[in-house]
Amino acid sequence: MPTLTYIERRGQLEDYFDRTAVEAWKRLTSDAPVGRIRATVREGRNQMRATLLDYLPRDLTGRRILDAGCGTGALAIEAARRGAHVIAIDLSSTLVGLAHERSEMDFGRGHVEFRVGDMLDPQLGRFDHVVAMDSLIHYKAADVVRVLSGLAARTRDSLVFTFAPRTTPLAIMHAVGGLFPRGNRAPAIEPVASDALIERIETETTMSAWITARTRRVGVGFYTSQALELIRR
Ligand SMILES: C[S@@+](CC[C@H](N)C(=O)[O-])C[C@H]1O[C@@H](n2cnc3c(N)ncnc32)[C@H](O)[C@@H]1O
Repeated sequence: MPTLTYIERRGQLEDYFDRTAVEAWKRLTSDAPVGRIRATVREGRNQMRATLLDYLPRDLTGRRILDAGCGTGALAIEAARRGAHVIAIDLSSTLVGLAHERSEMDFGRGHVEFRVGDMLDPQLGRFDHVVAMDSLIHYKAADVVRVLSGLAARTRDSLVFTFAPRTTPLAIMHAVGGLFPRGNRAPAIEPVASDALIERIETETTMSAWITARTRRVGVGFYTSQALELIRR
């Protein structure tokens, strides 16, 4: 059962990413010129996407991957080019529509199936890997662990996701919230210390089959986020 804090935050995020932030995300995730601050965010995001993709096996042929909170779809498209069958889901129908438009290209042996909705929807089926880039950073740590636990129950090999490390709150605030004028700010980011998050995950009984593996913090200008890989024991 989703918690009230999860449902409330999910509603705010849907509103934000389907309305307020659409134009800014469209531009940030394109090749269009952006200002100096956003350029650092774009570069940081490129590095983070490469990091998460690097945590997956090189050959993804036949692997079923969930891109949980796919936004405009860049990670899903790259995974499909490496042979994966990707289910790419996001709360924002506008961003999913844009992802779909941008994906009208050859995926080689791979494929992307775009969906609008909640990443926890059990109808999405089972996966070999789940990737969630910057889509859990707005949820409270307890909800993040619940989401991971829900996804873990349907995942065979690995879960790779990012969280906002509790170190440089100002930089993190700027990373996403600062992209937009005051009043149009994103729902708050929920920074968490990496040790505290890892401890929560490792002491969660439903996650006892999982261990934390690689982690990497990416900090470029106004972008700070940390990748974490969970694998089955
Ligand atoms: C910061 S954006 C990142 C998008 C994409 N992963 C990327 O890195 O370009 C976060 C995305 O997560 C989506 N999101 C947040 N909570 C979600 C949920 N419970 N189910 C599906 N999508 C979610 C938002 O709608 C938003 O598009």
